[in-house]
Amino acid sequence: MIIIPNFIVFEGGDGSGTSTQMNLLRRRFSPSMPVLHSTAEPTEGPVGRLIRKALGGKLPLRAETLARLFSADRQEHLYGPGGIAEHCGRGELVLCDRYVLSSLVYQGITCGEELPLVLNRDFPGPELLFFFDVDPDIAAKRLENRAEKEIFEHRDFQVQVRRRYRELLPWYTGEGVKTVIIDASQSPEKVEEDVWRWIEKMPIFKEEMKNSEKEI
Ligand code: TYD
Repeated sequence: MIIIPNFIVFEGGDGSGTSTQMNLLRRRFSPSMPVLHSTAEPTEGPVGRLIRKALGGKLPLRAETLARLFSADRQEHLYGPGGIAEHCGRGELVLCDRYVLSSLVYQGITCGEELPLVLNRDFPGPELLFFFDVDPDIAAKRLENRAEKEIFEHRDFQVQVRRRYRELLPWYTGEGVKTVIIDASQSPEKVEEDVWRWIEKMPIFKEEMKNSEKEI
């Protein structure tokens, strides 16, 4: 698998706190650090918006159609204008809430393993991937206050999601992606500290340090 340097992905079941972590991490970044570009899938683009409708139950689609939409959305997200490749190519650090592994896990459950594998096999991998591991009951509690329930937000499905993530992580590591399992049942601040400890070790931070030392 081809790996995109400086590309980080957050993965986990629904309610595992990936979006919260994106917001907390942003506060770590000062002007002397690499530029952080944070993004998410499904995207805000036309395909992503169609996906959101289906997730909200407003557009009944076959599971296989949804699998194809996720990979089409990803294709644009990676290579389209203002996409992941463009930002990474500019030397920025790109942080993405969900990516290929979400498709392999969620669509793997709804369509069988084969289709999501075929649809996603050509996408490059991230340098670093965090799996936010949390008991589905704790995650469900976090989602209780949300106004709208999405189609995958059911306990039985989320139990399968967690199992599938744990099964697929070693495979992803074998493909050259550095994967870290985070105990996401902890407080958001503690989770953020754990995540930051790994991110600050990335080579991009050392390179930035060298550059700023040279300027002095
Ligand atoms: P999520 O990331 O939880 O966003 P929000 O917090 O805004 O609802 O929701 C996206 C949902 O889409 C989640 O249930 C996982 C699912 N999903 C897939 O099934 N396949 C994919 O490839 C991606 C990116 C997401």
